[in-house]
Amino acid sequence: MVSSIITAIPNVISSKKSIAHILGRFKINRWLYSIYSKYQQSFLGYSKNINYENKTFFKDIHIDFALKSLKKEAVFIGLKLPKEIVTEIQGFSKNTLLAQENAKAHFYYSDVKNGYLPDGRVIVQGIAIEPLKCDAIQQIINDPVLRVIIEKYLGYSPKKIRALLRWSFVLELPDEARMKLSQGNLYHYDIGEFNSVYANFYLSDTDRYSGAHTMIKGSHNCKNFRMLFNSAIQPKDYLIKYYGQHNEILIEGEEGLGFIQDPYCYHRAIPPIKEERLLLQIQFS
Ligand SMILES: [Fe+2]
Repeated sequence: MVSSIITAIPNVISSKKSIAHILGRFKINRWLYSIYSKYQQSFLGYSKNINYENKTFFKDIHIDFALKSLKKEAVFIGLKLPKEIVTEIQGFSKNTLLAQENAKAHFYYSDVKNGYLPDGRVIVQGIAIEPLKCDAIQQIINDPVLRVIIEKYLGYSPKKIRALLRWSFVLELPDEARMKLSQGNLYHYDIGEFNSVYANFYLSDTDRYSGAHTMIKGSHNCKNFRMLFNSAIQPKDYLIKYYGQHNEILIEGEEGLGFIQDPYCYHRAIPPIKEERLLLQIQFS
C-alpha cells in the first residue's frame, strides 16, 4: 500500500492540475480551507449580496435537518421548486444557445434530433452558455434558505458560484465516450475546488430511464488510499464492495425536485435511455 502511494504522488503532481485539484481530495484540507475562509471573510469583511428577508421557495425546509443529512450522508433531498419557476427555466432552455462541453458546437435545443445535429455531430448534452440570463435561475441562486444551508455547510460565504443548465439527450454511446464529454455517467467524485457543495434541480420528470442521479451515501467522509491517490473515477463494483450496497441510492423525482449534494461523494448520472433530462446544477465553492 505504501509503495502504491509513493508511486501515485508523482503521478498526481505531474498531472499539472491546480493545487486545489490535489488538496481538495482530502477531507482535512477541505476543513482547513473552510476555517481559513471563514476567518478571512470575517477579518476582511465580505459582501454577501443576499437579502435574507427575500421570499424563499423553500420555506418548509428544516435547515438543521438538511445540514445533518448533508454532513452524514452527503445529500439532502427534499427541495421543491414552484411550477412557474420550472416552466420559466424550461422555456429559457429551449430558446437559448447551448454548447457541448469540450466541443465548439453551439446549437439550440430544437437543432438536436435523436442525439445528433443536422451536420452529423453527436450531441449527448447541451449546456446553456449564459444561464444567468434566466431570471428564475438568479432567484434560485439568491434564495435565502438555500444560501443559509450552503453557507452553514461550507462554513463561509461561497466565493464562486457557477450555474449549469444542462440537457441530456437520449443516445446510444459507450460510457467512456460519455465521460470524455463530461457527462459524469461513471462513478466519480468532483475535484478542482478546495471545497464545494451543489444544489441540483430536476426540471423534467426524472427516473432511472431518464438520467436520474445515483450516489453512495457517506462516501464524502471516507475514502481509502486507492480512491484518494488515483483516478477520481472508480468502478461501481469496487465501490459497492467497499461501502456496501445499502449505501447506494437512486434519486428519482418529478420536475422541480431539488437535492443538495456534497460532490466529494461518489456519484453518477445514469445516461437517459427513454426520455431526455433537463437539470439545473448550481455549484457553490
Ligand atoms: Fe460530478
